[in-house]
Amino acid sequence: MIQKKKKIKRNWHTLQGQPLTEMDKIILDWQNKGKLVPKRELIKSKEQIEGIKRAGVLNTAVLDEVQRIIAPGISTEEINTVVHEFTVSHGGIPAPLNYEGFPKSVCTSLNEVVCHGIPDPDEILEEGDIINVDCTTILDGFFADASRMFVIGKTTPQKQKLVDVAKECLEIGMKAAHPYCFVGDIGYEIAKHAHKNGFSVVRDLCGHGVGLEFHEEPDVLHYGKKGSGMLLVPGMVFTIEPMINMGDWHVFIDEDDGWTVVSEDELPSAQWEHTFLMTESGLEILTY
Ligand code: MF3
Ligand code: CO
Ligand code: CO
Repeated sequence: MIQKKKKIKRNWHTLQGQPLTEMDKIILDWQNKGKLVPKRELIKSKEQIEGIKRAGVLNTAVLDEVQRIIAPGISTEEINTVVHEFTVSHGGIPAPLNYEGFPKSVCTSLNEVVCHGIPDPDEILEEGDIINVDCTTILDGFFADASRMFVIGKTTPQKQKLVDVAKECLEIGMKAAHPYCFVGDIGYEIAKHAHKNGFSVVRDLCGHGVGLEFHEEPDVLHYGKKGSGMLLVPGMVFTIEPMINMGDWHVFIDEDDGWTVVSEDELPSAQWEHTFLMTESGLEILTY
């Protein structure tokens, strides 16, 4: 009897005949188990990682500059001016400007605005406000994306707690990630922490691959089941950017500008974001 040779499923997005690396084997294994695995171009080269790191250094400097000038009485337009001028004078390009029609160089999201707030000369920061400033910098063609919350003066204990818990969610998401984990492992821990504190996680927006473009695969959801979503392997670069609401997670988009995302119940929202590199030993922050 002729023994039937079992057909080996060698795909991992069309592997060639060369010997398999350890990483190839793991990816192939998960692919054969039906999991979502990264395309080859999502695994960055050494040179690309160096470029993204340089963009990250500039992006951090931009946010530090915002931190120096932000105060009661300034407008979100003034934040935009600082971001634009600092970025350009250091050889970078603010990625939001003209991105899919976005009219400004930075997103400024005040209180109940969840994200994608548009800087405005008539929007003046007041004592007690909480604001997210989200900067994305292009340097030599490489992208880095990060955001911070700023508390203007002193705010209420509940708003301060929201800002703190949102930051903890990012840190917890970062610690939940390790090489060959899944996106869902991160989201699961983030949502658990938000819910434990009585807050909700926005579901309509997510983190994303980044580096060669503004938004790449994978989608990085901030909620979900362990083991769901894409496999994360060394060399991948992506953001985690949980948006945490004080009330309900539902949001709407301002019809007038088509951008501003607001919590449906108009209760405050907070978000922190970093760009991360997956390494052999876990996540490295590229936007410190
Ligand atoms: N920086 C945002 C993010 O974290 C995206 C902003 S898109 C813009 O993904 F057009 F509003 F700038
Ligand atoms: Co982002
Ligand atoms: Co961002």
